[in-house]
Amino acid sequence: MSEVVLSKVNKYYGEIHHAVKDVDLAIADEEFVALVGPSGCGKSTTLRMIAGLEDISTGEIRIGDRVVNALPPRDRDVAMVFQNYALYQHMSVYDNLAFGLRNKKVAEDKIKKEIDRAVGILGLNELLQRKPRQLSGGQQQRVALGRCIVRNPKVFLFDEPLSNLDAKLRTQMRLEIKRLRSRVPTTSVFVTHDQVEAMTLGDRVVVMMDGRVQQVGTPLEVYGNPANKFVAGFIGAPSMNFLSVKISEEGSSLFADAPFLRLALPSANNRALASWRGKKVFMGMRPEHLSLGNEISQCCFNAGVEVVEQLGSEIILETSVGDARVAVARVDPQVPFTVGETIPLSVQPERLHFFDPITEVAIR
Ligand SMILES: Nc1ncnc2c1ncn2[C@@H]1O[C@H](COP(=O)(O)OP(=O)(O)OP(=O)(O)O)[C@@H](O)[C@H]1O
Ligand SMILES: [Mg+2]
Repeated sequence: MSEVVLSKVNKYYGEIHHAVKDVDLAIADEEFVALVGPSGCGKSTTLRMIAGLEDISTGEIRIGDRVVNALPPRDRDVAMVFQNYALYQHMSVYDNLAFGLRNKKVAEDKIKKEIDRAVGILGLNELLQRKPRQLSGGQQQRVALGRCIVRNPKVFLFDEPLSNLDAKLRTQMRLEIKRLRSRVPTTSVFVTHDQVEAMTLGDRVVVMMDGRVQQVGTPLEVYGNPANKFVAGFIGAPSMNFLSVKISEEGSSLFADAPFLRLALPSANNRALASWRGKKVFMGMRPEHLSLGNEISQCCFNAGVEVVEQLGSEIILETSVGDARVAVARVDPQVPFTVGETIPLSVQPERLHFFDPITEVAIR
């Protein structure tokens, strides 16, 4: 069993810089967790504390049944893949793969067996005698992954391993990591600032901001039920639209009101929102949940087209509703739009999100 459990983990750099704040996180055996958040939010620091490359200021980290706080990296049985691959330039691919095991005084025939296995999984056959500089970025990254596989660690730790690759190769390597997961199931923590990578790779996604965990959930949970406005805006592309609306009541129905917009809210939302009558809240609408037309009669409004982005498979529109900006995605690419025209938009009210205007926590 190699679960990884962080309990109330904090990291201070110097006296004042509080980089990681009270992180509690339990990663199950063989689970693949993606740690995502904007630059500087404490992802690498968290990962490096698990690896033992960084001291833990307070709190406890456990790998399997051992508390590892005081263990040096080599005794933690973790393998880490970095953004810059960190291969030894003067060694062949084979020697790079063998390096960790030779350090541990593993016998050469056993090393060869492990390397054969990794080479088979990653398709490195042709490359074994080359030096790293004779490899493409994707190939170097594959060698870095191979170096982890041969060690059979309890835990894989990835720190933005795909960020140096071009867009196409990234998608390809993402698939390889997915494939690797099913062939070598190992507890893994994958750090990325790219929410698409986090969503596609993680069994669960951990969203961090400013040193704190904002939400832990499956990709569908963080997308469908974001815990707060930050998570709502961070997960999903294009980002969720936010409008300041006032909640009002007419008869037995609730409405969200803003200049040029009045949406009738379904009863599912009503219970939580009822206490916000007469007050302002943030309303979130995902661009992909807006559709052209006014067929949802209680939930439509007019928008002015400002920017048209034709992607071939879809159109993304930037529109204005009063003085608010509203992005709209997944519009049929055959529809001709002109900048300046007014279009009707509808939204399914069940797909609206609401957030406390002060704490920004989801209202539900
Ligand atoms: N050795 C260090 N000394 C002082 N401050 C540090 C050190 N390493 C990181 N920090 C600070 O701690 C915070 C978290 O850094 P960290 O590297 O964990 O962020 P990150 O989420 O990995 O960001 P990125 O996506 O840019 O890699 C940042 O504000 C950073 O400036
Ligand atoms: Mg980092």
